[in-house]
Amino acid sequence: MGFLFRTSDSTFYAAPRFVTHIDDPAIAELTKYYSKVLPQSETPGVSIVDMCSSWVLTEYIVQGLNVNPKLPFEDNSFQVITNVVRVDYLTKPLVVFKEMNRILKPRALIVMRFSL
Ligand SMILES: C[S@@+](CC[C@H](N)C(=O)[O-])C[C@H]1O[C@@H](n2cnc3c(N)ncnc32)[C@H](O)[C@@H]1O
Repeated sequence: MGFLFRTSDSTFYAAPRFVTHIDDPAIAELTKYYSKVLPQSETPGVSIVDMCSSWVLTEYIVQGLNVNPKLPFEDNSFQVITNVVRVDYLTKPLVVFKEMNRILKPRALIVMRFSL
C-alpha cells in the first residue's frame, strides 16, 4: 500500500533538500547533451533560466509556480530555458508554458527533461 501526503509545495520544501534528483549516469548524459546544445557560458549576452532548479546554482529566485505561475522577467529576455524532472508536477502547465514563451527571445531553446 502506498501513502500520499497532500501538503503544499512550500511546506514540502520548507527544509532544505541538498540532494540530487537524477542518478549519476543521467547527470552525465544530460551534461553531455547540454555541452552540445547550450551556448558557451562565456558568450556575451547569453542568459539561461533553469526553472525548478536545485541547490547548485549561485543566483536564484524562489517562487511557487503552482501558486503564482507569472514569471518575474521581461518579455524576450532569455535564449534558453531548461526544466529538469519537474515540469510534470506543475498544476498550471499551460500558463507556465505561455510564460516561458513570453520571456524567451525568438529562436530560443527550451529543454524539458522527464523522469520515468
Ligand atoms: C525533482 S527536483 C528537480 C531539481 C532540478 N531540476 C534537478 O534536476 O536536480 C524539483 C525542483 O522543483 C522545484 N519546485 C518544486 N515545486 C515547485 C513549485 N511549485 N514551483 C516552483 N518550483 C518548484 C524545487 O526547487 C525542486 O528542487
